Amino acid sequence: MLSALLYALVALTGIVHGFTLRTWDQAYALANATVANLTMTEKVGLLSGVGQFNSRCVGNTTPVSRLGIPAICFQDGPAGIRLVKNVTGFPAGINVAATFSRRLMQARGQAMAEEFRAKGVHVLLGPAMDLMRNPKAGRAWESFGPDPYLNGEGAFSTITGIQSVGVQACAKHLVSNNQEHWRYGLSALVDDRTMHEMYFYPFLRAIDAGVTSIMCAYNQLNGTSSCHNAGLLGPTGLVHSTGFQGYVVSDWGATHDSASDNANAGLDMEQPGDNIVIGGGAFGEGGSGLASAVNSGSVTTARINQMVSRVLAGYYRLGQDTGYPAVNFDAQHSDGSGSLNLGVNVRSAAHTALVREIGGASAVLLKNNRTTTTGAASGVTVRGLPIAAARIKTMAVIGQDAILPNLSCNDLNECNDGTMSIGWGSGSNSLQFIVPPITAIQQFVGTSATIATSLTNDLSAGPAAAKGKDVAIVFVNAMSGELGAYDTVVGNMGDRNDLDLWWKGGSLVEAVAAVCNNTIAVIHSVGPVSVSWSDHPNITGIIYAGAPGEQTGPAIVDVLYGAVNPSGRLPFSIDEDEASYGTTIVYNSLGFPVVNYTEQLLIDYRYMDAKGITPHYEFGFGLSYTTFAYSGLKITSTGSGTSSAVVVTFTVANSGAFAGTEIPQMYLAYPASAGEPKRILRGFDEVKLAVGTTATVTMNLAAREISIWNVATQAWVRPAGTFTVSIGASINDVRLTGTF
Ligand SMILES: *[C@@H]1O[C@H](CO)[C@@H](O)[C@H](O)[C@H]1NC(C)=O
Ligand SMILES: *[C@@H]1O[C@H](CO)[C@@H](O)[C@H](O)[C@H]1NC(C)=O
Ligand SMILES: *[C@@H]1O[C@H](CO)[C@@H](O)[C@H](O)[C@H]1NC(C)=O
Ligand SMILES: *[C@@H]1O[C@H](CO)[C@@H](O)[C@H](O)[C@H]1NC(C)=O
Ligand SMILES: *[C@@H]1O[C@H](CO)[C@@H](O)[C@H](O)[C@H]1NC(C)=O
Ligand SMILES: *[C@@H]1O[C@H](CO)[C@@H](O)[C@H](O)[C@H]1NC(C)=O
Ligand SMILES: *[C@@H]1O[C@H](CO)[C@@H](O)[C@H](O)[C@H]1NC(C)=O
Ligand SMILES: *[C@@H]1O[C@H](CO)[C@@H](O)[C@H](O)[C@H]1NC(C)=O
Ligand SMILES: *[C@@H]1O[C@H](CO)[C@@H](O)[C@H](O)[C@H]1NC(C)=O
Repeated sequence: MLSALLYALVALTGIVHGFTLRTWDQAYALANATVANLTMTEKVGLLSGVGQFNSRCVGNTTPVSRLGIPAICFQDGPAGIRLVKNVTGFPAGINVAATFSRRLMQARGQAMAEEFRAKGVHVLLGPAMDLMRNPKAGRAWESFGPDPYLNGEGAFSTITGIQSVGVQACAKHLVSNNQEHWRYGLSALVDDRTMHEMYFYPFLRAIDAGVTSIMCAYNQLNGTSSCHNAGLLGPTGLVHSTGFQGYVVSDWGATHDSASDNANAGLDMEQPGDNIVIGGGAFGEGGSGLASAVNSGSVTTARINQMVSRVLAGYYRLGQDTGYPAVNFDAQHSDGSGSLNLGVNVRSAAHTALVREIGGASAVLLKNNRTTTTGAASGVTVRGLPIAAARIKTMAVIGQDAILPNLSCNDLNECNDGTMSIGWGSGSNSLQFIVPPITAIQQFVGTSATIATSLTNDLSAGPAAAKGKDVAIVFVNAMSGELGAYDTVVGNMGDRNDLDLWWKGGSLVEAVAAVCNNTIAVIHSVGPVSVSWSDHPNITGIIYAGAPGEQTGPAIVDVLYGAVNPSGRLPFSIDEDEASYGTTIVYNSLGFPVVNYTEQLLIDYRYMDAKGITPHYEFGFGLSYTTFAYSGLKITSTGSGTSSAVVVTFTVANSGAFAGTEIPQMYLAYPASAGEPKRILRGFDEVKLAVGTTATVTMNLAAREISIWNVATQAWVRPAGTFTVSIGASINDVRLTGTF
């Protein structure tokens, strides 16, 4: 039903974007017919990349020119096109998660895909949906945080957006790719229930969205490489038993075993094709691996045909066989040089505006000690936020995080010497058009105030600039990224070493607060950081702005000066003590470690709930310049078993002095016998309200969302008993409760 509706919707947008969306059946009929007409060499060319440094995209198959099939182009990354000029640097996944807005998740997916399509890319290598199992995990910012439901909704909406313009999405990384240290061979031990309810859950939603490809991960699961793991990829493995109809492509160099090992386990395509030191070259090196496996009888022709059909089905399903733009760039020349870079500009005013909107909507207001001229909320701000430009005559902007970063950093953005708008690694994106905070503030303020600056993290110069000013805005950051070739950035090898702000950012905020009683801290970070200084009485505002992409400056100006009333919410908990999170990163090991997921369902807020830990800032937390009142909870239950559904409605009113957007959240407590965490996120919405207005919110719970994974019956089963629904503005700010 849902998928039929979705199909109709996507088909409609497909027509608008000038391509024909086909059903899987139609796509497979075409794919099968093509397969019947391919030579073995041509088949193998469609199943393996042409080599890391031999292709215009980060991954390319061999074209079949006689049938008009181009080299299928795969390109990074999940937050916009990497290694290419004249593209937009979109916000990180963790930021769109912080918007708790399906509308923005989908819009971002679509806008990114419009750029990939216009550059001729067939497959966008995203979204990432690896849970933030530990807050220091290097690539967690590419995904949607530690909560499986939020990751699932992020994945669903992003993929729907990407594929709505005929670009293939690639759901990654299957599976348990949750830390960078040792990732090329560590073995994650994950029990069946934890797998279904946590790490595989977002992939279920990706499959619901009709994703055409899934990327298997570098790491092992249960002692077997993800890309040669029949429990994941085989006919009765996780992805196909869940209805996945597309193909599985290896992460770059993630094939560690023979062609037959991988092909027979269920891997359909290898990229980039050659051996890239960390692995690879099983199918590839000209495809000889797979061809000789067929010749020796260790892989059947039927399996090869199935692999090619799956690959082509994605291509035909999204209508990529007609009218698709040809590749017009060359990722081997990321500076835009060379005859294969045709200089096509795929940016647009709409995309720039969207990046700015998501930047504003993902800013989480953690503290606002606001005083006004009248003492009432409707008065003009004296201290705190939003800043009243008319009252500010002197101000200071402080911190290295306010300035332009190094635009000549390497292709993986392995630098943190200016403002942090995106992490490093293959998930980074273009900084070419970035507008840093200092530039946007100077433009906005003009001559209305004098701006003193100290644009380093110098602990003497910062306070000197701030002393006696009406307001001081301090920009601080923390960064992480992908392990890649074992590079370190300021001593961090992918995963962060700790939860501290970089470059003594915490000390800088405190030094400024010691001399200025209207100090505003802006944090650009890939995940939770220590904010042990938050109670300082002179710190009147704290904004957690995440990794907001290229319009970082304009977006933060919108929030600081009130053009945007903040509605971002933490997609993770913040606590100073890493032990509060219930997991660790394995840094030190004699050889590849086994990482046993003994915490099972209990990460982040689920662990804190179980242990009675109240974090510094809880999951779902975020302030607004206005206030909202909740009332009228109604819960209607229909059906039973696998056709269960529950509809929850309630009313939200803007009871404050500013127009704004509320993010109501729904948490479920299962019957005790279910063995679930105390409360889990199962719904959210964005509700835009003018002052004094009211809206009714409806949240639906489908059968799977009120079930647990039953290991014995291998099915989603609704446990008997009473469920408690909590509706509120964060997990700890509960306004309404009810049961069903
Ligand atoms: C495509 O071929 C496979 C066998 O390789 C078959 O199972 C499937 O039904 C075919 N699909 C269509 C739509 O023809
Ligand atoms: C096979 O491809 C050739 C072009 O190389 C084409 O003429 C022929 O119709 C194709 N046959 C099928 C069954 O698709
Ligand atoms: C991994 O091993 C655990 C424990 O033996 C088992 O419950 C689970 O089903 C296995 N997962 C896969 C995908 O094989
Ligand atoms: C960027 O796009 C402009 C057209 O808007 C073009 O003139 C320029 O050559 C392009 N630059 C690169 C490096 O592609
Ligand atoms: C920018 O980064 C590159 C590569 O790391 C480095 O060579 C260069 O010196 C940096 N530029 C500045 C201004 O720091
Ligand atoms: C803040 O400092 C200013 C002087 O910079 C002073 O006029 C004002 O009274 C102080 N406000 C508070 C609440 O301390
Ligand atoms: C707050 O700022 C004022 C200057 O406005 C300073 O005199 C005072 O010591 C500061 N308070 C603290 C606790 O640092
Ligand atoms: C808020 O500011 C007032 C001064 O206006 C100060 O007394 C109070 O301690 C501050 N509260 C916090 C939580 O920082
Ligand atoms: C993993 O942890 C589970 C639960 O504590 C335990 O039963 C199992 O023996 C552990 N496996 C290994 C290989 O350490």
